[in-house]
Amino acid sequence: MTSAPSLVDSFGRTMRDLRISITDRCNFRCLYCLPETEEAANFYRDRFVPAKAKEINYSWKPKSQFLTYEEIERVVQVGAECGISKIRLTGGEPLLRRNVDRLVAKLVAIPQIEDLALTTNGFLFAQNAEALRSAGLKRISFSLDSLDAGNFERITGRDGLKLVLDAIKQARELGFSPIKINAVVMRGLNDHEIVALANFAQEQEVIMRFIEFMPLDSSRAWQKDHVVSKKEILERLLERFDLEDIPPAHASETARRWRFRNGSGEIGIIAPVSEPFCGNCDRLRLTSDGKIRTCLFSLHEHDLKPILRGEVSEPDLQATLRGIVSKKEERHHIGETDFVQPDRTMSFIGG
Ligand code: GTP
Ligand code: 5AD
Ligand code: SF4
Repeated sequence: MTSAPSLVDSFGRTMRDLRISITDRCNFRCLYCLPETEEAANFYRDRFVPAKAKEINYSWKPKSQFLTYEEIERVVQVGAECGISKIRLTGGEPLLRRNVDRLVAKLVAIPQIEDLALTTNGFLFAQNAEALRSAGLKRISFSLDSLDAGNFERITGRDGLKLVLDAIKQARELGFSPIKINAVVMRGLNDHEIVALANFAQEQEVIMRFIEFMPLDSSRAWQKDHVVSKKEILERLLERFDLEDIPPAHASETARRWRFRNGSGEIGIIAPVSEPFCGNCDRLRLTSDGKIRTCLFSLHEHDLKPILRGEVSEPDLQATLRGIVSKKEERHHIGETDFVQPDRTMSFIGG
């Protein structure tokens, strides 16, 4: 039950999902996000268009600018009054922030929040897992783009495959469910691993989601040629697996989903580039420094911090949120001539 009017944008879409980046820092350097490594330079060298090669300055915000957990809790409470029922904690890498379980416990206690999830690269999961579970986190998504140790390091800049595989195992043992695995598929990088990743989903009984590469990388190196489309991913899967459609549970779902006709596990394909899903978007984003982004590709942000740190009543905060939502973008413009890449990269926005 909500007590205040919902957050409806000018296209009639109602916001239900708030995705919160709790830190902009990351301990990985993924080639599709923060491509700063030698390996990333080598990968992009042949495919780079120099005219677009204006790097984004993504220097970290001072930690003093981060919203406190109490401030984040307040934003969620206000959102919840206006119909937000789903929260995802992201980063950067969210587990770089201390005591994330404290924040989880606060958010779980908000009655309107029906679903709380966290996206992590898994590297620091082992030392946080039990506290997160005890605090009330039920489900989790891991990033895992390769099952080959060398390719994993090439993509992420870290020798971390074993740690992440152990983290997934530990998450299952602790009863996290569902466990989702995100793989951004890039041509010539990990597209040869699509079938192996799908096999992993079946063996491990997890949900494997293949994601089209979006232009949110800090080098602005994205090109259409790097993207492996949903159609192509599906063709490669259908050559090897007998898949059955799973109808969407909600119109706003990002992934199209399939189950294996003979076995456990699930496949999802997230296709923001070839089949945009903006028409049913119900997502808002809060950055670690307190800005609301109404779209992954927003060119303008709305600063809540001064409002939160001033003396503002709940109804005024609700009205501020409603005003922000009324300006939500209709859709992204990836691949069109008028596309402008936002200054914040995925590492700041959090997926
Ligand atoms: P749940 O239903 O809560 O599990 O979320 P989800 O299925 O949307 O998955 P998740 O939050 O893990 O998002 C997976 C990936 O989808 C992200 O890392 C992004 O690459 C992409 N994605 C998520 N939300 C959006 C969005 O609003 N717009 C676009 N273009 N891509 C998105
Ligand atoms: N395109 C698509 N997805 C991306 N992610 C990060 N960068 C990109 C990108 N450029 C996704 C990864 C990660 C999540 C946090 O965001 O799958 O799991
Ligand atoms: Fe929503 Fe923007 Fe993502 Fe489209 S690109 S689904 S409008 S957040």
